Amino acid sequence: MGDRKTKKARLDETSVAEKVAEESETHTHNRTPEELVHHDAGEFKGMKRHHTTAEQAQKLETGKINPFTGRNYTDKYFGIYEVRKNLPVHAQRQEFLDIFHSTQIMVFVGETGSGKTTQIPQFVLYDEMPHLEGKQVACTQPRRVAAMSVAARVADEMDVELGDEVGYSVRFEHKSGPKTVLKYMTDGMLLREAMDDHELSRYSCIILDEAHERTLATDILMGLVKQVAQRRPDLKIIVMSATLDAEKFQSYFGLNDKPTPLLAVPGRTHPVEIYYTPEFQRDYLDSAIRTVLQIHATEDEGDILVFLTGEDEIEDACRKIDLEANQLVREQGCGPLKVYPLYGSLPPYMQQKIFEPAPEPYKPGGRPGRKVIVSTNIAETSLTIDGVVYVVDPGFSKQKVYNPRIRVESLLVSPISKASAQQRAGRAGRTRPGKCFRLYTEEAFNKELIDQSYPEILRSNLSSTVLELKKLGIDDLVHFDFMDPPAPETMMRALEELNYLQCLSDEGDLTALGRLASNFPLDPMLAVMLIGSPAFGCSEEVLTVVAALSVPQFFVRPVSARKAADEAKMRFAHPDGDHLTFINVYYEFDQGEAQQVGQHQWCRDNFLNYRSLQSARNVRQQLRRLMERYDLELNSIPFDDPNYSSSIRQALVAGMFMQVAKKKSGSTKSYLTVKDNQEVLIHPSTVLDTSNKHTGEWVLYNEFVLTSKNYIRTVTSVDPKWLVKLAPKYFDLSHFSKGDVKLSLARVWDRYQDN
Ligand code: CDP
Ligand code: MG
Repeated sequence: MGDRKTKKARLDETSVAEKVAEESETHTHNRTPEELVHHDAGEFKGMKRHHTTAEQAQKLETGKINPFTGRNYTDKYFGIYEVRKNLPVHAQRQEFLDIFHSTQIMVFVGETGSGKTTQIPQFVLYDEMPHLEGKQVACTQPRRVAAMSVAARVADEMDVELGDEVGYSVRFEHKSGPKTVLKYMTDGMLLREAMDDHELSRYSCIILDEAHERTLATDILMGLVKQVAQRRPDLKIIVMSATLDAEKFQSYFGLNDKPTPLLAVPGRTHPVEIYYTPEFQRDYLDSAIRTVLQIHATEDEGDILVFLTGEDEIEDACRKIDLEANQLVREQGCGPLKVYPLYGSLPPYMQQKIFEPAPEPYKPGGRPGRKVIVSTNIAETSLTIDGVVYVVDPGFSKQKVYNPRIRVESLLVSPISKASAQQRAGRAGRTRPGKCFRLYTEEAFNKELIDQSYPEILRSNLSSTVLELKKLGIDDLVHFDFMDPPAPETMMRALEELNYLQCLSDEGDLTALGRLASNFPLDPMLAVMLIGSPAFGCSEEVLTVVAALSVPQFFVRPVSARKAADEAKMRFAHPDGDHLTFINVYYEFDQGEAQQVGQHQWCRDNFLNYRSLQSARNVRQQLRRLMERYDLELNSIPFDDPNYSSSIRQALVAGMFMQVAKKKSGSTKSYLTVKDNQEVLIHPSTVLDTSNKHTGEWVLYNEFVLTSKNYIRTVTSVDPKWLVKLAPKYFDLSHFSKGDVKLSLARVWDRYQDN
């Protein structure tokens, strides 16, 4: 009763406030900055605000007091302001505001580097002043590096501490708080939030950035916000994209066959000369390194951006370039060369280094210094690094591929699309005319590269996505408004997998387990495994395994010290396999050996990646907290317990039973994946002795790696009895096609039923 009363009273207040606002034409922008600071200034609540103009916003920006903090702007702020007001988007601020005010959903297209990601959210903030209503603005990014880096930049631009008014949220890392009004987040994180808050009620405006990337999460978000927008007329949506497939977005978000409005900001790019290689390059890595060195030796001033495919390759290239550059300096008197890597798992302080200026010449008037950034696709459109004049493009990136028939999702180094190649080349023309060196032939560009990459939704295993959609309350997946609907077979596979995991009932409804699993930011298999682990008495150990699987590899294997690295690894090896080995490493890091020499040193001595272990600890803590929150017991099994290994491995089977392989009969090396009958080899990095009759017959694996051969990686030996005991439905023989695996399983079933 009492409740209803207050609610009613508040409603009345709102309408009074609205009336007052209408009558007196009070504009938020007529308030002084001090007045704008009060976060819950009751007077403003629910008040109809009038639209600001670009001029009014700029007045606030160039005033004395920061309206978001109430503090005086610092000199540094004005320094940055001078630079950013020259970005192309500022010239069209009024046009942006006019469209923003006139429509609920708009599409915004602009050349990379024009200021979309950093400026547009601020345009919205200065217009909406969302903090007055207790609301926030969200800006999504497909990549965590971009979310973190841009948040840091915008916090500087707005003269606030990162984590206060401007924050970020990426999986397993959050930096935001009660004061936050602008949050950069990965598209996946916003999707997670939507699972608990279907209306996205804390946001007044949602900006979906880098929509052209068409990541899985962005695609789902687009479908979702389209629905939410109908229920929440007060919610504004901006879809931002770098390349010009704007019409597709416009018509997708359009109403009654009318495309939604578009604002396109013309780029301010300089011409880029494109060079192709006369012939096919067998070793693109080597070719890329040589090209960088040649540019440094012969071309005018200007920084170099090289696109490679992943962390290992990038670190390797950086080392080699660094080494050889020293030689160039000695032998040819070249200027200094500084090399920076850039990839997703790089820690934030290292990421920020790419923005440092190129090194000074060795002596005044000497040959200029240069910086080289060796990057994944991140630098294609997500991050802009000023000063780049030369781009080296080998034409590859790591891309997800999924084959629903054999249920294999894998990251593959694949040729990029023409659109990507154009974006990459464009990075050379930011500040002045540039050059792009494509390490492939012109013919290959014309004939072999596809025009546009396929959206991720068409290349992914969808079990996480389907679980998310179910949790979002979207039951009718077939009629969900996807921009590009996934293949029915992929959808069926996902439903089937979730059913085996008991996350979905036979009718396709979310089960209690499914609901619980969806609260963990993990693949459903791993979530189910973690939730089930207390029953095996080893949830602490399984937490460690899941954490290890959620971060980059613990083990490093430098080319120069392979043997030593392999020996170091074997010291941690558990005879039953890689997952148990992770636990050994983590234990020594967290509470064992490492305490004596210090964790850094200990990692160096043992060829371990300190950062990975550090983030495993962070991930583990967060998952542990989730376990506590959902009342899942935390228990541990002592290392010397005779059931130590078998308990943990059974807990692993309970989640990963769909990823099992059996040694092919008569073979010493080849395995067959269970059910899908793919012939695979075990990745040589394993500690498992596969020649051993007891441990080498049946294994569970985490990853299917497609290279010249098919490998399974991260493997642990399992007892087939556990398979039929823990996942009887999946291992029901009637679902198996004739063959080796079926025969062996039949024997296991017989023995199991006899007992
Ligand atoms: O999103 P879009 O590609 O349109 O541009 P942006 O990311 O907003 O970048 C606009 C400008 O801000 C570029 O000139 C960047 O160099 C600069 N920026 C920066 O200096 N430091 C960052 N961490 C991010 C951007
Ligand atoms: Mg951007």
